[in-house]
Amino acid sequence: MMKIAIIGSGYVGIVTGIGFAELGNHIVFIDIDKNKIDKINSSQPPIFEDGLEGLMKKNNGNFYATNDYEVIQDTNVVFICVGTPSKNDGPIDLNFVKDASKKIGRNLKNNFQVVVVKSTVIPGTTEEIIKPILEKESGKKAFKDFGLAVNPEFLREGNAVHDFFNPDRIVIGVKDEESKSILEKLYSPFECPKLTTDLKTAEMIKYTSNAFLATKISFANEIGNICKKLGIDSYKVFEGVGLDHRINPEFFRAGIGFGGSCFPKDVRALISKAEELNENPKLLKAVMELNEEQPLKLIELLKKHIPDLGGKTIGVLGLAFKPNTDDVREGRAVPIIRTLLKEGAKVIAYDPKAVKNFKKLFPEIEYTSAEKVLESDAILIVTEWEEFKNLDYNGKIVIDGRRIEKAKEEARIYEGVCW
Ligand SMILES: NC(=O)c1ccc[n+]([C@@H]2O[C@H](COP(=O)([O-])OP(=O)(O)OC[C@H]3O[C@@H](n4cnc5c(N)ncnc54)[C@H](O)[C@@H]3O)[C@@H](O)[C@H]2O)c1
Repeated sequence: MMKIAIIGSGYVGIVTGIGFAELGNHIVFIDIDKNKIDKINSSQPPIFEDGLEGLMKKNNGNFYATNDYEVIQDTNVVFICVGTPSKNDGPIDLNFVKDASKKIGRNLKNNFQVVVVKSTVIPGTTEEIIKPILEKESGKKAFKDFGLAVNPEFLREGNAVHDFFNPDRIVIGVKDEESKSILEKLYSPFECPKLTTDLKTAEMIKYTSNAFLATKISFANEIGNICKKLGIDSYKVFEGVGLDHRINPEFFRAGIGFGGSCFPKDVRALISKAEELNENPKLLKAVMELNEEQPLKLIELLKKHIPDLGGKTIGVLGLAFKPNTDDVREGRAVPIIRTLLKEGAKVIAYDPKAVKNFKKLFPEIEYTSAEKVLESDAILIVTEWEEFKNLDYNGKIVIDGRRIEKAKEEARIYEGVCW
């Protein structure tokens, strides 16, 4: 059993902490958001993630939450899981990481504690930014008096609890033997491949994984756009392409592009770092450019059938950036709804989990039931929630950004973005 502090109890922090609690460790969550602290202390998940509430109830007693960093004095491992957003749409914003590092540094004790950077940070950040802060605030030496490691997170929102217990791999970036052996012990219940690297290689693995996945989506969309013009179903094309074992069939879901709190900001941060190094990352820039244009394809197809959107009621199915989450950060619904409103349409929308978060971005649109959305002049499918596979699309105009087969079969007028 280890005593673990989790700094930042958002999507990554809460799932990681509760996952480790389930494996028999004792967890203390530290956050600056009082609302999240109260929720965790009453065993309520601070975010929606399937299976999380059950695990919290089950492990109630093995964790608590606070805003007081002093509690980390009594822990063996401290995970930094705070957000690392984009600064003005470009470079990484390290303010949360720096603030957390300062407060951790002030509370490092004499026994050897390992600080583990789980937040996604640009290669070099742990050694060049986090380490000096920890050393200054603690008066101790990294890799000697305390440990420092990088352990990037690969969980997918919507499948996060499953992914915690069934990772494809665990990457551990270390420099000192003691941090390595503590993390090996912590991760010993997992049987997946474990890769040990130096600190900045571990940081780079995370960015490279996200950049590749984002590239795969933009590639699928570019091919999908060509297929659409040729009257070819790109899903059939990628079925054929994915059978090549060098390529693999996963993640070729052509549609309206990627959103979320990771791919867009991580690719932007990598572009920005590359430019700082006098490299021109042409491919990554094209990936982002394509992704920004892709959601507007849905409007283009809608206007083929309703050229003037002024005064028309357009129904949006799905606001979350992907199914099974309440996260709306950089969701494709944002540019789509912004454009609809600009064109003078009345927008009504439904999402099973994300309405509360989306209302903060668009208080002016109407939030309603799926059935009511189906009564609109036209329906746009923006997120592929499972329940959208059972709606009655008979007689409707449906413009589909996510490939819902039932809509394809039933709608009176149906357009798919890349098929
Ligand atoms: N969300 C994902 O799917 C995912 C997957 C892999 C990696 N990541 C990375 O993990 C990190 C966290 O992402 P997230 O989605 O969980 O973020 P989040 O915004 O959901 O959560 C971050 C939490 O940190 C808290 N926080 C901010 N500053 C703090 C401080 N000084 N002390 C204590 N708490 C503080 C916030 O209140 C918030 O609760 C990011 O670097 C992200 O890129 C995210």
